[in-house]
Amino acid sequence: MPPLASSSTLDHASHSVDAIATADSAAISAAVSATGDVLLAKQLDEFDNVGLANAFVEQGKFVHVPHFLPESLTQALIDGMQAARVDMNRNYLPGHKKGGSVSRHTIDTLAPAIATLYRSPTLIAWLEKMAGEKLMPSPETDPHAYALYFYTEPGDHIGWHYDTSYYKGRRYTVLLGVLDRSSAKLEYKLHTRDAARAPVDGSIGLNPGALVFFDGDQLSHRITPLGVGEERVSLTFEYVTDPTMGAWQRFISNMKDAVAYFGFRQVFSLRRKK
Ligand SMILES: [Fe+2]
Repeated sequence: MPPLASSSTLDHASHSVDAIATADSAAISAAVSATGDVLLAKQLDEFDNVGLANAFVEQGKFVHVPHFLPESLTQALIDGMQAARVDMNRNYLPGHKKGGSVSRHTIDTLAPAIATLYRSPTLIAWLEKMAGEKLMPSPETDPHAYALYFYTEPGDHIGWHYDTSYYKGRRYTVLLGVLDRSSAKLEYKLHTRDAARAPVDGSIGLNPGALVFFDGDQLSHRITPLGVGEERVSLTFEYVTDPTMGAWQRFISNMKDAVAYFGFRQVFSLRRKK
């Protein structure tokens, strides 16, 4: 679902095969994008959405839907992941994280279909139903708004953490399975920040097309280490209830993303252009 090509003024000299091809490609892109949204809406209509929303609340703002995306959209994510992985940045932070990441800035260039899904009105409306509040995409300067996580070498993992919000509002995380030929699991602890509830442990695989949705500040979670010869890729979408962020919080957030995820080039190169 790539974004629409921008319109341009055509003079007689450029009114050529190229121009016609551009117009056709814009029309095709729009059709593919609309089709993706319709397919997603049809899939979501078949779920017990009231039951899922109740589960989300009962589990302390966490829900797992094993077969969330229609097959064609899952395939679009896989294609996008394969296109974007050439720009993967690997990190090793002893005791916390080892693996590869691709930021939204690279996704915008190499896998725009993923960016289109991130902004899908159907997807956002469904997430809002779960969260019970209005959600907004993260600002364009946030390299983590949508990102791919690659676990491709033995021992790749991320330790226990929360997806802390540096925004003035809440930060919600979507994880979508893209590829999973691994024994690695998403492990989580529910209710760790609710003194009235006993913690509940969980462990799940994230098959291609599966979704996990949670409030980043409420769910303690980790990905267990990858085994030899295994591979796992997931996609994260970040939505917020208030997209404003203080200058100090933005600095801390960018440094974390540069050091632990995307590297300084991916995090700061777009900002330098502005
Ligand atoms: Fe996380």
